[in-house]
Amino acid sequence: MYDVNEIRKDFPVLQELVNGKPNTFLDSGASAQKPRCVISRMSDIYTREYSNVHRGSYLLSEQITWDYEAARRTVRKFLNAKSEKEIVFTRNATESINLVAAAWGRKNLKKGDEVLISEAEHHANLVPWQMLRDELGFSLKIFKIADDGSFVWEEFAENLTANTKLVAVTAMSNVLGTVFPIKKMAAAAHRHGALLLADACQFAVHHKVDVQDLDCDFLAFSGHKTYGPTGIGVLYGKYDILASMPPYQTGGDMVDRVTYEHTTFEEPPARFEAGTPAIVEAIGLGVALEYMMALGLENITAHEQELVKYASEKLSGVPGLKLIGTAKDKGGVFSFVMDGIHPQDLAFILNKEGVAIRVGHHCAEPLVHRMGYESVARATLGLYSTKEDIDRLVAALNKARTFF
Ligand code: ALA
Repeated sequence: MYDVNEIRKDFPVLQELVNGKPNTFLDSGASAQKPRCVISRMSDIYTREYSNVHRGSYLLSEQITWDYEAARRTVRKFLNAKSEKEIVFTRNATESINLVAAAWGRKNLKKGDEVLISEAEHHANLVPWQMLRDELGFSLKIFKIADDGSFVWEEFAENLTANTKLVAVTAMSNVLGTVFPIKKMAAAAHRHGALLLADACQFAVHHKVDVQDLDCDFLAFSGHKTYGPTGIGVLYGKYDILASMPPYQTGGDMVDRVTYEHTTFEEPPARFEAGTPAIVEAIGLGVALEYMMALGLENITAHEQELVKYASEKLSGVPGLKLIGTAKDKGGVFSFVMDGIHPQDLAFILNKEGVAIRVGHHCAEPLVHRMGYESVARATLGLYSTKEDIDRLVAALNKARTFF
């Protein structure tokens, strides 16, 4: 039984008033709120257990090293990876993708090769490939999506060629909510000898991820969106691929032997975690993922899908409102514009009503332009969102209309 009102009690900030109104937080797509178990575990560590990891031969360091590595095992379980050696802690999904570009891409891509991405990518899965293309001379191909934001299999398949070395795609768009068929895409990429990287930053928040079932080669997500802290992200990579990659950054903890003349490196994942890592954040992420798994990823998806249906109907009924991204297979992301009201003005009025949304190009400027806009408003759902949140959003939008 998924009792959202009970679940909301786990999130202290949701009990706060905003501008004297109930906190109607509809910006979880940008960053999610944190349950008390994450906040208190992190505070406990700083209060009673803190020290560095992998370096100290004393109790506190041994304990926290255990906790840090236990968090890695939790991520393994969350993703159903074969081994915790396939889990690299990074700063966020952006760093995870940059790591793949810098370490795998620079070693494996050359002139004549192709990297295939979609029109629906976040800047984090576009700009690193543009930069590397300019450096190495491979070609960066971009396949089209439909005007309603749907994924179109033919557009993807027609752009896969014998030269494609990597397909790097979002698993769920942060602007349109569209869910991409990653499993089928990975199988098609593999038939062409290419690898597939999934940007699961939004997808992992709303769906069960099973990297063995998806058979993706790399997968990235950010801790702060999966109800964990900022400053921690994950790169999953198949072990043999990670083991074939050179380091991303160099320094302490990622080395095997160092002399003044030469250095050898640790095996993955240590090879990719140079310097003191985000220790407390990794442990906090572990707690957040345990929290999600205890609620049940299938239950979270079912709750949110009911809300997606409810919100789609309610928002479609607001006069002058146009939804951007209405694919059949979509998650809890609602981008929209309203006749005669600039999205920024809309957000200003909604804020007065305690309703938090994001406006702008959502770190996906080419996509927002491709959909025909400079700036759009966006409401995004989390596992704690309710029908009352949607009702308050709709009431605030109707109120905004009266100002213009
Ligand atoms: N990528 C985050 C968003 O979509 C920040 O808002």
